[in-house]
Amino acid sequence: MEKQCESGKITKVLEEKIVACMFFEPSTRTRLSFETAALKLGAGVITAEDASKNSSASKGESIEDTTKMVCGYADILVMRHFEAGAAEKAAKVASSPVINAGDGGNQHPTQALIDLYTIKKHMGRLNNLKVAFGFDPKHSRTIRSLALLLTHFTNNEFTFICPPVLNLSEDAMEDLKKRGAKFETADNLEKFARYDVFYANRLQEERFSDRAEFEKYRKDLIITRKLVEGTKTIILDPLPRIDEIETNVDDLPNALYFEQAQNGLYVRMALLKMIADSR
Ligand code: CP
Repeated sequence: MEKQCESGKITKVLEEKIVACMFFEPSTRTRLSFETAALKLGAGVITAEDASKNSSASKGESIEDTTKMVCGYADILVMRHFEAGAAEKAAKVASSPVINAGDGGNQHPTQALIDLYTIKKHMGRLNNLKVAFGFDPKHSRTIRSLALLLTHFTNNEFTFICPPVLNLSEDAMEDLKKRGAKFETADNLEKFARYDVFYANRLQEERFSDRAEFEKYRKDLIITRKLVEGTKTIILDPLPRIDEIETNVDDLPNALYFEQAQNGLYVRMALLKMIADSR
């Protein structure tokens, strides 16, 4: 898909199809890249952004009823929701495929595919990697999804870097243990240069029950230019960036987060094509 986009010759494999984007939580990259991906492949797009307010969910309609209706209009449904498990709930009653575009603090699987694609492009491999994840593993669905996906490759080692109160939840740790993952925790950036990949993510303000706790830790750990310069560690961030990476890191060759966001378009095009092909 990346090659097709570069050449400008995109096969319209989704002609006559409709992709529906139902977003019950804010988004820039996920919604707009899915919509662009669908349009580039020739599909039509219907969209409900800010669906908590602007769809009939605001009148109390359930996820299930909403899904049944939208499946009558669309061939593929892309859903982001604030509730963990929402996409799974939708998929159980859906007559069209449902793509999870982020469900609360649970998972963000298409982001993890983008992350893998970006790592593979730059490292040439998806195994034998030392990967650090910061700085809010407790609330970050992108960290959960990527760590889990990386356990499908061999000999990867993870370090979760955060203030101890923001460490990975017990259930997420159990999921990793079940998959035989090797991981440790740290509360500082002393070993930055030892990691092949540093996966940064902002503190997820919207998922803190205590705002004072968010304010207390939001600037505790920051990736600075001084830390990165001269190292081979590549830096990913699903974005949006808030405090976690200084903006003067952006022009270093290690900083891949804007390219990562661009890769989102290609990966989501590929995913939509695979789903359409399988129908
Ligand atoms: N990475 C990501 O999910 O970004 P958005 O919240 O802007 O979609």
